Amino acid sequence: MALVVEEIVARCQEALNEDTPVLAVRDVVSGIVSDGRGLEHALGPVSRGGITTLHKAADLTVLHVAWTPGISLYPHDHRMWAVIGMYGGQEDNAFFRRVPGGLERAGGRELPAGEVLVLGDDAIHSVANSRKDFAVALHVYGGDFFSVARSEWDLETYEERPRDLERTQRLFDEANARWLESTEGA
Ligand SMILES: [Fe+2]
Repeated sequence: MALVVEEIVARCQEALNEDTPVLAVRDVVSGIVSDGRGLEHALGPVSRGGITTLHKAADLTVLHVAWTPGISLYPHDHRMWAVIGMYGGQEDNAFFRRVPGGLERAGGRELPAGEVLVLGDDAIHSVANSRKDFAVALHVYGGDFFSVARSEWDLETYEERPRDLERTQRLFDEANARWLESTEGA
């Protein structure tokens, strides 16, 4: 049977009952993104970048994220575990740690299609898509992604501020407009 969104969410919900939910969810997501075509079919074609909510509850959020080519999202935390599974393109993740007055870089990881990244509760990362195709992923969080108070940091000054999802939306809108312009001119 073809994979559908309800099935993806149901598998993640089931994994929450395991002893170590984050690792069980990692295994589920790993299995799902290993069949990129199936996931592409379930989620539909991507023509612009953005975040689509597939499931939202107090204990679990499942998002479909499409990173526009050229986008760069400033550092932010989640304050809950996160499992990111790529099924197309590539996310460039940079990691940070808190230092007095801001952040310092602490490595990074390029995440190509088929790979899964697990982030702990206190992880701080920034994400960029430096390639010429959309980076598409399933993002699963161990809580309510939208109502927990979180932080983000300015991309250049590393100044901390409250997470602002409207600012994130504007970033996607700008990146989408730039991308559209560049493809129209091609
Ligand atoms: Fe994130």
